[in-house]
Amino acid sequence: MNFDLSEKQALMRKLFREFAEKEVKPLAAEIDEEERFPIENVKKMAEIGMMGIPFESKYGGSDGDNLSYILAVEELSKVCATTGVILSAHTSLCCNPIYTYGTEEQKMKYLVPLAKGEKLGAFGLTEPNAGSDAAMQQTTAIKEGDYYKINGSKIFITNGGYADIYIIFAMTDKQKGTRGISAFIVEKDMEGFSIGKIEKKLGIHGSSTAELIFKDLYVPKENLLGQEGKGFGIAMSTLDGGRIGIAAQAIGIAQGALNETIKYVKERKQFSRPIAAFQNTQFVIADLQTKIDAARLLVYRAAYLKDTNQSYTSEAAMAKLFAAEVAMETTTKAVQLHGGYGYTRDYPVERMFRDAKITEIYEGTSEIQRLVISNKLLK
Ligand code: CAA
Ligand code: FAD
Repeated sequence: MNFDLSEKQALMRKLFREFAEKEVKPLAAEIDEEERFPIENVKKMAEIGMMGIPFESKYGGSDGDNLSYILAVEELSKVCATTGVILSAHTSLCCNPIYTYGTEEQKMKYLVPLAKGEKLGAFGLTEPNAGSDAAMQQTTAIKEGDYYKINGSKIFITNGGYADIYIIFAMTDKQKGTRGISAFIVEKDMEGFSIGKIEKKLGIHGSSTAELIFKDLYVPKENLLGQEGKGFGIAMSTLDGGRIGIAAQAIGIAQGALNETIKYVKERKQFSRPIAAFQNTQFVIADLQTKIDAARLLVYRAAYLKDTNQSYTSEAAMAKLFAAEVAMETTTKAVQLHGGYGYTRDYPVERMFRDAKITEIYEGTSEIQRLVISNKLLK
């Protein structure tokens, strides 16, 4: 394994870092405070080709690889975790399954505008009774002539209120358990589709987290993604990739919080010296950077395995598990090193602390990552 970025990856990271610093960072506190979806960030990301990084240009993408896309989520999340997850859900959870399982017609019709950033994507698996136990799907899709009639609902869907294209999972045959689940491409304007409750959350305030409601939603049979009954496998393998994206979000949040802290401890004086002069401060920041670097290596390894077509289910779960815990530890200690100021909204570590928590919950909780890792070890 090569630990260096290629010239192209390094150039892309430079572009993403500059973009994040110049365009995204200045808005981060405002969108958090106003709980506002940053549509302007999405438009700007589209302009510089960030909405389809790992896909070929014939599908509207930027001819990059997964590691480059991961670098984008990391750089965005250093300054704004909301913008990081918008890109992650769009790319990993909507574009990627169409790229992997879609027909050529589906790719031309849906992936091209998604990867160009003309359209925004989302992924609907979770239901009120199907969270960690994703197999407990209750939404149904009944074949009627040239259509599937979908009834049911999804909750907690990222990009939910703003997406144009949704990957939706539903039961086409309830008798068959996970083998009776199918995946569909749903457009926001299809009759019978509506947006329900928008969640108010602890963190990632700018990210839209919505309920989706399907009432006699007729989806053309051409919009079945992959084969009927193969939807659960599509969901699981899509989440394998998505978990690397969330792990990148977590290391971004952690590095962002540590960078802010290093700046702060050199400026803040107590007992007539900068608090950076205390050995406790030095040891805390040394430990945190060591853990962030370890997490980053796990994340890049998982992306590398995906890029080289090797299996990466367990490695993606390890990356997400570890990076999310490092994000929580780093942001907690970052607030501590800021003292009372870190508890106020005058400093970004307060927001980063709130944003970090979700990385231990979505795309499979930390407990579910442990299940995925141990299942492989014990099988
Ligand atoms: N790739 C492909 N297929 C897979 C797979 C994978 N990684 N993992 C399992 N499968 C297949 C199995 O091979 C099996 O197939 P067969 O029936 O053909 O043998 C089938 O799926 C069922 O497998 P399991 O019996 O292992 O499934 P399970 O019901 O025990 O569930 C689980 C396993 C890992 C707990 C799974 O339910 C899970 O991942 N839960 C967490 C849900 C989750 O992560 N949700 C995230 C929603 S999206 C989100 O959160 C987005 C966001 O925030 C931005
Ligand atoms: P539960 O499954 O009820 O879990 C509750 C607790 O029980 C957790 O600690 C869990 O780890 C534990 N637990 C459950 N089962 C086990 C077990 N077998 N062993 C040990 N512990 C267990 N979903 C989508 O489909 N698309 C999205 O875009 C999306 N975005 C989201 C955005 C946000 C902000 C949030 C909050 C959620 C989002 N989700 C999305 C849903 C998310 O993936 C689920 O919330 C998550 O998978 C956990 O499911 P749950 O909330 O039902 O918790």
